[in-house]
Amino acid sequence: MSLILTTKTVPAATAARPAADCLVAGGLVAFPTETVYGLGADGTNGKAIARLYEAKGRPSFNPLIAHLPTLEAAQRVAIFNETALKLARAFWPGPLTLVLPKAPGCPVSELATAGLDTVAVRIPAHPVAQAILQALGRPIVAPSANRSGHVSPTTAAHVLHDLDGRIDLIVDGGPVSVGVESTIVGCSGAPVLLRPGGTPRADIEAVLGVPLGRLETIPGHDSPLAPGMLESHYAPAAAVRLGATALNADEALLAFCEALPGARPERTLNLSPRGDLIEAAANLFGHLRALDETGAQAIAVMPIPTHGLGEAINDRLRRAAADRPA
Ligand code: TXA
Ligand code: MG
Repeated sequence: MSLILTTKTVPAATAARPAADCLVAGGLVAFPTETVYGLGADGTNGKAIARLYEAKGRPSFNPLIAHLPTLEAAQRVAIFNETALKLARAFWPGPLTLVLPKAPGCPVSELATAGLDTVAVRIPAHPVAQAILQALGRPIVAPSANRSGHVSPTTAAHVLHDLDGRIDLIVDGGPVSVGVESTIVGCSGAPVLLRPGGTPRADIEAVLGVPLGRLETIPGHDSPLAPGMLESHYAPAAAVRLGATALNADEALLAFCEALPGARPERTLNLSPRGDLIEAAANLFGHLRALDETGAQAIAVMPIPTHGLGEAINDRLRRAAADRPA
């Protein structure tokens, strides 16, 4: 059994001390960030990071994000150019990850960066994540706290479902607010969108004053730049059918705005009855998990607009629907 600490009864700072102690001792601690729950290890401890990959069942070529409490701390890990500084000042703390060249003497273990000469860094806004980072005083590497390939966790109960007994501690800070992972921008050259996420593309482009490059248009790239962008990901057990405008027999329904006619209430969840993409992002992973638990063979998903957080929502749904490895 993994130990659970809840910030419903103790302040974040109080929960942070045992969490930091556990990390220093090489333990694995799940904690809330504003995007999804992360599974943290001490970023300087190769052995703890090896345990983390093992607990998640994650291919170890897939590098991890280093979480830091402040820009100053992040500058000890990565080299910030003007563009990176602009983005950091505009969006941190918050749901944005920057991929940057490693700083000389970067303390993050090679195992976490998968031997790359770049490192992904992020300053989370969640008070519990902040408190643990401050208490630890070292980078925390943290992927989403789910079994590799499964739906990301937005509550402590989701973490427990996927990882109970495989990790040491879960800090329960209640449901997260954003609901999709951070946006990842590659910033070692011209800025490129590596993964759509909780910071909408348009907001980033407004700060930069230029459009973000697209992954597909980088000349000569033959392997994914964010290697974690495996085609099948975020997958529930049920099949996922996108763009549904009618419902087949035995399908559960993931609705957006007004639900399709013929939907069975016990097998229908609505991302946002009022058509709000921020609300839809917050509900996405929880609703996918809950519909999976109805035992339906398939989940039909209504069309969702692609602007704002819709880009990240559609990205996650496309991967949930992708052919699964045999
Ligand atoms: O919101 C989030 O970003 C959450 C919370 C916990 O912070 N974390 C998260 O981590 O989503 P994860 O491991 O599920 O996704 C990290 C992504 C992967 O796609 C990985 O390949 C990419 O970041 N990544 C990490 N380091 C990279 C690097 N040096 N270059 C390119 N991509 C990198
Ligand atoms: Mg993940």
